Amino acid sequence: MTIDVEAFAASARPVRFDDLDLANAFRDRPLMPETLRCLRYMHDIESHTVCYLRDLLLTESHRDPRITTFLTTWAWEEQWHGVALGKVLEAHGEVAGNERVSATRRALGVKDRLAPLLNTLGSVLARRDFVAVHMTWGALNEWSTQAGYARLAELDDHPVLVELLERIQRQEARHIAFYATEARERLAESPRARRLVRLALTRLWAPVGSGVVPKEETAFLVQHLLGGEGGDAWVKKLDQRLERLPGMEGMKLVQGEVQRWYAVAA
Ligand SMILES: [Fe+2]
Ligand SMILES: [Fe+2]
Repeated sequence: MTIDVEAFAASARPVRFDDLDLANAFRDRPLMPETLRCLRYMHDIESHTVCYLRDLLLTESHRDPRITTFLTTWAWEEQWHGVALGKVLEAHGEVAGNERVSATRRALGVKDRLAPLLNTLGSVLARRDFVAVHMTWGALNEWSTQAGYARLAELDDHPVLVELLERIQRQEARHIAFYATEARERLAESPRARRLVRLALTRLWAPVGSGVVPKEETAFLVQHLLGGEGGDAWVKKLDQRLERLPGMEGMKLVQGEVQRWYAVAA
C-alpha cells in the first residue's frame, strides 16, 4: 500500500475548534493542574514542528517530492494543533501562542544552532538510508503523541478536552499512516536500513520534545502519561507497534526509555 500524498495534502484542514467555545468551556470545571502541565508541553512541541521541518529539509529526505509534500502538510496540521491547545491554556489564564513559543525558542540557545548541523551530519553518514531512519522515527513519534493525547483524555475526562483531543488524534492517525507505511517499505527492502534504524533508535531516540523543554517537564510527562498500570498498557502497545516493523523485533525501546526518565525524575 502506498499513501496518495496529493490526496492527503488536499484533504488537510486546520483542526476544528471554533465550535467548542474553548474560551468559556473550562470556567465551571477547569482542567487539573497535571493536565495543564502536559498541555503546555504538547502546545510547545506542536508549535515547534516548523523548526523540526527546517532541520529535516537539510537532509536526504528533501530529495523525495512525495516526502516534501507530506512534510509541508504535516507541519501545517501540527501548527494548528499548537494553536488549538494554546486556546485551552489561555482559557485558564495562561500565556500561550506566539509569546510562549518565542520564549521556548529563545531558551534553546546553542542547541537550536546545532540541530541543523547534527541532522545534516546524520544524513551525510546514512546517505539514502537516512530516509528510513526519518520515517521510522516519525512513526514512533506520531504513535507516542497519539497515545499521549488518548491517555490524557483518560486521565482528565472533561468533555470539551476529550472532544478536542479526539479531533487532534484523528489527524495524528493520518500522519501515522504515512510514516509507518514509508518506514515499512524502506525497512523491508534494505538490510542496511534495518541495521541503521535499529542503531539510531537505540542510541538516540527520546520522547518527542525532550530536546526542547526542560528535562523535568519530559520526566513529568512520561511519568504522568505512561507511568502506573494504566500507562503500562500504552507502553506495551507502543513497543508492539514499533516491533511490527521489519528488523525492529524485540527492541523494547519505549519500555527502556520510560525507565530512563523515571531515573531522571528520581
Ligand atoms: Fe500534532
Ligand atoms: Fe502528528
